[in-house]
Amino acid sequence: KNYAEPYRPQFHFTPPAKWMNDPNGLVYFNGKYHLFYQYFPERTVWGPMHWGHAESTDLLHWKQLPIALYPDELGWIFSGSAVIDKDNTAGFGSNAMIAIFTYHNDELWKAGQKNTESQAIAYSNDEGKTWTKYKGNPVLNNSGEQDFRDPKVFWHQETSKWIMALAVSDKIKLFSSTNLKEWQEESVFKPENDTENLGVWECPDLFPLMAEDSQETLWVLIVNHGDKAPNGGSGTRYFIGNFDGKTFTQSQKALWLDNGTDYYAAVTFYNAPQDKKIVLGWMSNWQYATKVPTEVWRSAMTLPRKLGMVKADDGYRLTQKMIPQFATLTKPEWELEKVNTPFEKKNLNLSQAEVTFSMDQPNDAIITLTNTKGELFTITITEDMVVTDRSNSGKTDFDKTFSRKPQVMPLGEKKVTRVQLILDKSSVEILLNDGLYSMTNLFFPTEEYSILNIITKDKKPLKNLKIKSVARIWD
Ligand code: FRU
Repeated sequence: KNYAEPYRPQFHFTPPAKWMNDPNGLVYFNGKYHLFYQYFPERTVWGPMHWGHAESTDLLHWKQLPIALYPDELGWIFSGSAVIDKDNTAGFGSNAMIAIFTYHNDELWKAGQKNTESQAIAYSNDEGKTWTKYKGNPVLNNSGEQDFRDPKVFWHQETSKWIMALAVSDKIKLFSSTNLKEWQEESVFKPENDTENLGVWECPDLFPLMAEDSQETLWVLIVNHGDKAPNGGSGTRYFIGNFDGKTFTQSQKALWLDNGTDYYAAVTFYNAPQDKKIVLGWMSNWQYATKVPTEVWRSAMTLPRKLGMVKADDGYRLTQKMIPQFATLTKPEWELEKVNTPFEKKNLNLSQAEVTFSMDQPNDAIITLTNTKGELFTITITEDMVVTDRSNSGKTDFDKTFSRKPQVMPLGEKKVTRVQLILDKSSVEILLNDGLYSMTNLFFPTEEYSILNIITKDKKPLKNLKIKSVARIWD
């Protein structure tokens, strides 16, 4: 069986072989979701970047396709986005799929020069199978900053313009265009009082989203940060506010989209049906991504998650829910309506599983995933925070940052009452209260976890504990 090497996720996207990082060019077209990704097809570490390509009709089963974009004399192909040019504004044909990406000149970059990154476009008239790079590239030249990359482009109906959000050093710049070829700077976003140095800003996304309860539409600006995410290294933050076609204005304090260490470069699909906002992240961290103990391939994507927005006392928050079709992969294995704690169940297949339960509020709980060797991953839920600990989870010594400290997620005003864990070989996606809080973590046990243990404060019972197996997505 292929895709069956140790630690290889079975229902998360991974490249067939070699190195992958950010999702790129996420776009829906003609019934298919396209996933392009940062890809180095020669080694299992980062290097000259290409855009790998896969497509899916359900966001779960992926078909691997040939490499879409190769590096050339202008540079390596760094991250970016893709749009469908319905009205042929660029002149490449109506409904052309157009990729907007960064050229990165690594030689100049290594030599310490500044003008090393620029934005360029390529188009496809056959659903992303073959690509032609535009002769007039680059379409947006560097303004003299070393980090000038990861264009996210969308059509802004109200102004009839394309808008590009670009990460420029430690801020976001917005540009506009009528044809994707000529770009005009509109504004700069750099929050006031943002004193923390969060490293280089990367992979932005900007889109409107309607709040579930108030029906109010607000704009969300996602920014990925290279350093000092809540638990170290890289992470994804978001701002909520307004966009008037030129300027983004923040209306509340920034929040982190996922508080685990393994959720980065997250961006959303363009053109998804019914304006659904589906977000996908790279399930790793630059601190140790090139060292994780996998062979053949390196890195997976998170599961696609549906973004929503809810209003809490402390402001609006994004929610991330499993897409409904995820249920088609799951099969009930064991469930009980009322479960007394301490609870323990052995001989489970926790390497491809979904575990869910609810609790009366407030209720502190410690969830332990372990194996017969005593390697363990723990999730501690209290009233104010959730803490995950992978210090004895299995292989950890490939990098000292991997398990140096437990990971902490502070909670907002809502306490945790519903728990969902999605386990796939070497990862857990922890979604709490229907995706109001999320934490994504990697681990590398030397034997698969097979024992689930849950204890609660005051020995309060759990409700509706369900353990489901999850089917593999590869044939
Ligand atoms: C984010 C990132 C992007 C860049 C790409 C290079 O992980 O550093 O800013 O375009 O990866 O592979």
